[in-house]
Amino acid sequence: MKRFLLLSLCALLLFAALRGSVSAQAGDSIPTYYGTVGPILQTHCVGCHSEGGIAPFPLDDPQWAVRMAPAMAAAVQSGRMPPWPPGGDTPPLQGDRRLSAETIRTLVRWAEAGAPLGRLRYLPLPSSDTGAAALPYRLQPAQAYTPDAKLSDDYRCFLIDSAMGSDTFVTGYRIRPGQPRLVHHVILFVIGREQLALAQSRDGRDGRPGWPCFGGPGLSGNPADIGAPLGFWVPGTQGTDFPPGTGFLMRSGSRIVMQVHYNLAAGPAAPDQTRLELATAPGSAGLKPLLGNAVIAPVEIRCPPGATGERCTREYALAHTGMRFVAEGSHLLCNTSPALYQARDIGDGSSQTTTCDRPVTGDRVLLGVTAHMHLRGVRVKLELNPGTPRAQTLLEIPRWDFRWQGQYWFQEPIRANRGDTVRITCVYDNSGPIPGPGGEPLEPRYMVWGEGTTDEMCLGFLSWVRP
Ligand code: HEC
Repeated sequence: MKRFLLLSLCALLLFAALRGSVSAQAGDSIPTYYGTVGPILQTHCVGCHSEGGIAPFPLDDPQWAVRMAPAMAAAVQSGRMPPWPPGGDTPPLQGDRRLSAETIRTLVRWAEAGAPLGRLRYLPLPSSDTGAAALPYRLQPAQAYTPDAKLSDDYRCFLIDSAMGSDTFVTGYRIRPGQPRLVHHVILFVIGREQLALAQSRDGRDGRPGWPCFGGPGLSGNPADIGAPLGFWVPGTQGTDFPPGTGFLMRSGSRIVMQVHYNLAAGPAAPDQTRLELATAPGSAGLKPLLGNAVIAPVEIRCPPGATGERCTREYALAHTGMRFVAEGSHLLCNTSPALYQARDIGDGSSQTTTCDRPVTGDRVLLGVTAHMHLRGVRVKLELNPGTPRAQTLLEIPRWDFRWQGQYWFQEPIRANRGDTVRITCVYDNSGPIPGPGGEPLEPRYMVWGEGTTDEMCLGFLSWVRP
């Protein structure tokens, strides 16, 4: 037995020596975990892939990194990881997560070489992201909420007691999930006094804190009224500081509604009380108010050929959304009609487009952009002055994923003038069943504008200041 142990020890030492000499011989050409790979993972992956984080395995653990090396190579090559939905001709954005070609090559070569660890050394922690510092004004829902374990995804809105005594600028925010493993995204909406009574009547109506809400907070039939979204948060970020000299003006008496998306595939349900931190400045601080406007297109999405029945009729869809006004009004805004969409050939139904051109109504300095569709959305694009020499893409999401929504800030502000045109184009796949938000199958049906999971939206949002 003793001899066996000794032999194994010798074999192990020999193996270690050989391994060491192989990587030493190859010099820099074979990446190692403790050489170049670990620091890459810490900078680009560990924000989500750490113990207790939203991602399914920790990449600051060398054993996991080695085990997952081939999967990582595939995920970074295909662009699935790190998650970063914008692409195409989108102008440079702040916080772009995409990896350089060289970084991708390093991860691929490491996997191909059998994921060697290299010589053990201490890896410095990633330099802390901007936005990590705590902000002074702290808020949270009154009670913890335990997401519904019967669902795979639970979308819940909470009314935050954020009444400001006087007009106040929010200049930045942080989100601190109570259960980082479960919280997949957070959207902050600001509602005015008019919507407060409705929010209060929904709050706790099912005996639990908050109320279910899928798209927006569900408090108004008019998407122009959702109030500007104050902010978006996705895993791997801490929050946002608004561009210097600007702030989001919260009128006295307005409130924040916090929508939290819980991803229950990521772990067992547990009580969550996600916190919110704000940096504020008095309304008299002389900041430029961050303004915004929605850009919408009509939604007329038909059932695939062969699918029939009541659910495939426009009347049924209209009757089942509370937003008939938007469904019809969006056509007026865009100079289109349901008949125009219904006359189109939709092929197998997998690529149905809706679009709208809208005039810019004043001179603007565009700072940020976001887009929103539901589960059937596959592509979305926002453009300024398309088809002219001044054409400029504002945002393009070539593979829409409802689970990775974000707000994007341009690296360089973009000027838009009164009379310019903004175009939004959304594409949907309504060709067959898809998993619904709670994991249940959703069959195709006729879809018009609405907030429900089986309704759709084609919504862009521009954030800007006056010049
Ligand atoms: C913003 C958060 C986030 C970042 C940053 C991130 N991941 Fe992920 N990753 C996830 C989540 C969440 C999942 C689980 C699947 C899903 O939700 O898409 C995942 C799944 C994966 C998977 C398994 C599924 C697949 O698509 O193959 C791999 C491999 C992976 N990540 C590798 C990486 C690598 C390598 C990096 C860094 C270069 C990285 N991830 C950065 C959140 C992230």
